[in-house]
Amino acid sequence: MPTALKLGFKPFARPIGVLVVFCQEGLKFGPATQRTLAPLGDVLRRAAAADRFTGKSGSSLDIVAPSGLNLLRLVIVGVGKDSELKPRDVIKFGGVAMGKVPNAAASATIFAEFSSGALKANQVADLALGVRLRAYTFDRYKTKRKEDEERPGKVEVSIACSNPAAAEKAWARNVAIADGVVLARDLVNEPANMLYPGEFARRASSLAKLGVAVEVLDVAAMKKLGMGALLGVGQGSAHEPKLVVMRWNGGKRGAEPVAFIGKGVCFDSGGISIKPAQNMEDMKGDMAGAACVVGLIHALAARQAKVNAVGAIGLVENMPDGKAQRPGDIVKTMSGQTIEIINTDAEGRLVLADVLHYVNKRFKPKFMINLATLTGAIIVALGQQYAGLFSNDDKLAERLSKAGEATGERVWRMPLGTEYDKMIDSKFADMKNTGGRWAGSITAAQLLQRFVDKTPWAHLDIAGTAMGSPQTDTNKSWGSGWGVRLLERLVEDYYER
Ligand code: BES
Ligand code: MN
Ligand code: ZN
Repeated sequence: MPTALKLGFKPFARPIGVLVVFCQEGLKFGPATQRTLAPLGDVLRRAAAADRFTGKSGSSLDIVAPSGLNLLRLVIVGVGKDSELKPRDVIKFGGVAMGKVPNAAASATIFAEFSSGALKANQVADLALGVRLRAYTFDRYKTKRKEDEERPGKVEVSIACSNPAAAEKAWARNVAIADGVVLARDLVNEPANMLYPGEFARRASSLAKLGVAVEVLDVAAMKKLGMGALLGVGQGSAHEPKLVVMRWNGGKRGAEPVAFIGKGVCFDSGGISIKPAQNMEDMKGDMAGAACVVGLIHALAARQAKVNAVGAIGLVENMPDGKAQRPGDIVKTMSGQTIEIINTDAEGRLVLADVLHYVNKRFKPKFMINLATLTGAIIVALGQQYAGLFSNDDKLAERLSKAGEATGERVWRMPLGTEYDKMIDSKFADMKNTGGRWAGSITAAQLLQRFVDKTPWAHLDIAGTAMGSPQTDTNKSWGSGWGVRLLERLVEDYYER
């Protein structure tokens, strides 16, 4: 793990080092915080007045070496009005608190208390989740540390709470989720010379230690299945494509599984329709959908979720080469439908076409949700705040939206329809792989929909949310691990027995 964070729970007690406490609007503190800060006397009010700090959400007050307390630093984090706090804010404020811990600090204590009183065990665990996610760094390839970067060193964080044993127990569950997000972030942040399809498959295979059944299909196996679209994308690369299937069976024996499918383009150069040089390095993250699926299956298995879940990821590298696929080529998918390649840079949908069909046919799942950094157009439409949601099923779409609001990993539903579907009809084959510049995200989704039959399905276009350091209080990483918490929540709220 790249993060050098040691996290523990302890009772409220006189802290040393750095202390972070929360404060409601109107300079209101909880009882344990009040008791602890009492020796400050008048200093607190004077410092707050000097900085015009009142406890507004998003504000904070730093008091260095506060007199009367054995602290290096006291940080007061404003959480706003009590009545406006949402459940998911607890995770957020864990992130905010961690962000206030100075780089140089060796240890810090965070008081798990709002003015309404001490947080309950599961809230304490949520606070810890926020701390863990904010503390993440990817520094595997740095041989020197810079002091001005957030969290370059080791830090020991204690969360003070009213019942440490209960918090520890609740944390056992959240740590599964945190580890899933961290795993996904690590995969997205890895460069493509290190993380190519074979290596990705090896890392996914390590989920076996949690009781996940992992299969890796190689080129020969995929040829046999007739996956001409996926294989066409990978044929220009020195790295052979792989298809990884992960199964977690924590549900009723034989109950139909829920299925998650990820785009795993380990590097997307565009292929023969090569991309411009500017920002091409970002295309190491074009496997974020697959990374999310691996992180999700990790989370479900590690917390022993009572569900049968399938994760399937199509791993390829899209490269220009003498053997690479050309514009004008026609490929035959496993479903039997043919696709004319107009632009070799519209490769994600080709990979997903075969994986979606394969999963649907083999597992007959309750639903399929795929994740993909599929189009630049979705970034134009929604920025980094929402992922695009496309679905043939209102109930599934509604549940995803609710899980999005609950976790803060939000989705915005986009339209599908026959008028858009027509835009990908081809002169020479059943369809073409691009529908032109207009409605680029929608026509990509229409192609996917041609490979899901009647199965309830949702496609999440995560090009904006999964990479490029989407800034939140719980994410400063380039690869955000977006989707792990959303889908974990979806499963927990609606699909566990
Ligand atoms: N991986 C890209 C989409 C992407 C762009 C993700 C920017 C993240 C950031 C995808 O394979 C792609 O190249 N899409 C093309 C489609 C076009 C050729 C129809 C795009 O969006 O331009
Ligand atoms: Mn592309
Ligand atoms: Zn791509």
